[in-house]
Amino acid sequence: MTKEFAIEIKDLRKSFDGGKEFVLNGINLSIPRGSLTVIIGYSGTGKSVLLKHMLGLLKPTYGHVCVLGKDLVSLQESDLVKLRCSFGVLFQNAALFDDLTVLENVAFPIHEHRRYLPAAEIVKIAEKKLHMSGMDTKHFNKLPGELSGGMRKRAGLARALALDPDILLYDEPTTGLDPILTEMVDNLILETHQKQRGSTSIVVSHDLMAAFRIGENVVMLDKGKVLLQGTPSDFLSSDLELVRKFVDKGLKKR
Ligand SMILES: Nc1ncnc2c1ncn2[C@@H]1O[C@H](COP(=O)(O)OP(=O)(O)OP(=O)(O)O)[C@@H](O)[C@H]1O
Ligand SMILES: [Mg+2]
Repeated sequence: MTKEFAIEIKDLRKSFDGGKEFVLNGINLSIPRGSLTVIIGYSGTGKSVLLKHMLGLLKPTYGHVCVLGKDLVSLQESDLVKLRCSFGVLFQNAALFDDLTVLENVAFPIHEHRRYLPAAEIVKIAEKKLHMSGMDTKHFNKLPGELSGGMRKRAGLARALALDPDILLYDEPTTGLDPILTEMVDNLILETHQKQRGSTSIVVSHDLMAAFRIGENVVMLDKGKVLLQGTPSDFLSSDLELVRKFVDKGLKKR
């Protein structure tokens, strides 16, 4: 396994019921360091299950998942916990702590994992990450419940960035948002990727046009396998029937 790839997956299979049905059925996937990859596919094709394997939250039934050159299968739980600090994750609902302010939410992981830092330094880092996510200072002391949907996303992103992750994971960051907010979040992902030099971004999305707009590397999953990996133009010129259907449907939506 090389270090040229942020993530390397070899023949990953996963069944939840002791072997009969495979949700992931032989995934081979290499995600280059520094790339922005979008994973697309119909609902239930295993996208979230795949992300959970990258984080080591699920164990493969067969196969290997390597993150930053380390094979997760051979890691102890304590090393897995350390490796998870290399990830920043933004879930669909931003998953903020409701009873902590925006600033406290972002400071939380820094406090947890960098205990040696003085409190004032932690606040400074949290403020920097919030500014980087486009959050205005006037919102720093608000509770998540007092924020608009877009602001909550920015706060969630700032928290995902808190520990300077090598890899940023976004699971359906725009599902359920209106078109204007969707575009804002897409741009935020792109800008963040460009600002975080050398970091790798992986976005799971239903939105094909966004995938084409932000992704250099697009991966389509189907029935637990990689159907096609390539550039947006590889997708547009593909003869595969399922890819064509997905592309036609995606193009019609806009
Ligand atoms: N913990 C689990 N136990 C059993 N089955 C599971 C578990 N997690 C996921 N699955 C099954 O794995 C399949 C893939 O689920 P997954 O959540 O990865 O889909 P997805 O591609 O992310 O879909 P969506 O686009 O709707 O989010 C589904 O059939 C789901 O029911
Ligand atoms: Mg999912």
